[in-house]
Amino acid sequence: MRVIKNCTSVIIMAMTAATAAAAPPSIVTKGSGTAAACASCHGVDGAGNAQTRFPALAQLPQTYITKQIADFKSGTRSNPLMTPIAKAISTEDAKAAARYYASLARPQTQPTSGDPIVVARGENLAVNGAWDRQVPPCFKCHAAGGLGVPPVFPPIAGQHASYTVSQLQAWKSGARTNDPQKLMTTVAKNLTDDDIHSVAEYLATLGIQGNKK
Ligand code: HEC
Ligand code: HEC
Repeated sequence: MRVIKNCTSVIIMAMTAATAAAAPPSIVTKGSGTAAACASCHGVDGAGNAQTRFPALAQLPQTYITKQIADFKSGTRSNPLMTPIAKAISTEDAKAAARYYASLARPQTQPTSGDPIVVARGENLAVNGAWDRQVPPCFKCHAAGGLGVPPVFPPIAGQHASYTVSQLQAWKSGARTNDPQKLMTTVAKNLTDDDIHSVAEYLATLGIQGNKK
């Protein structure tokens, strides 16, 4: 009986994910009021855009997405494009968009430098940290391969390098202050520009499905 029940819930979960992926909510495709459609910048597939620094949203935990929208609203995080949208949308629309993007698999992004020395340097920092400068390994919190530990630690693998750089710089400069217990501020303050560039390049080379490309 228990087995049957478990099977049923797995099937229901799979169906829910499939339905959500097949039918994006109207906030994603059409927007609402003054808020442009999420898909116009983040894509209907949640891939974002490396050139314009629009982050990939696919596969971010649902509560991480709603937290970020609340943070743009409250001002602990700010961006000229995203802040007005976060302020304009309803809690229901934020939830619907979050549920949808969380259900999608993150597409592979294109690394920009491709320089193996830069990538290897980034990998070393992500895996081993730099203890001489009090930098813990990124994967200590973001899990092996940067796959994330929901709901608090987002996946960082497969994200656009340009976006990862901008966020690490924002924490370093004190522009982004929404991290719980200043976990990211503490890390970013001790990163050099070289660290930031190389770790962002490395993370962009990773796929997110168990790190297969
Ligand atoms: C005009 C372009 C644009 C539109 C439309 C847009 N966004 Fe964004 N969004 C951005 C940019 C740019 C950022 C990066 C902000 C930063 O650098 O801090 C962002 C960041 C985000 C983040 C943070 C992602 C992360 O990894 O922390 C979330 C969540 C998000 N957007 C959700 C949405 C949702 C939901 C919608 C639709 C209601 C939407 N966005 C519509 C441009 C846009
Ligand atoms: C002590 C734990 C911890 C360590 C170590 C850590 N992080 Fe984080 N990181 C976090 C938390 C918590 C968040 C979520 C912040 C929030 O809620 O906005 C985060 C968020 C991020 C984000 C934002 C993702 C997004 O979608 O906006 C990036 C990028 C990031 N971390 C990169 C790194 C890198 C690179 C390293 C290693 C140099 C690292 N982190 C090490 C805890 C950590």
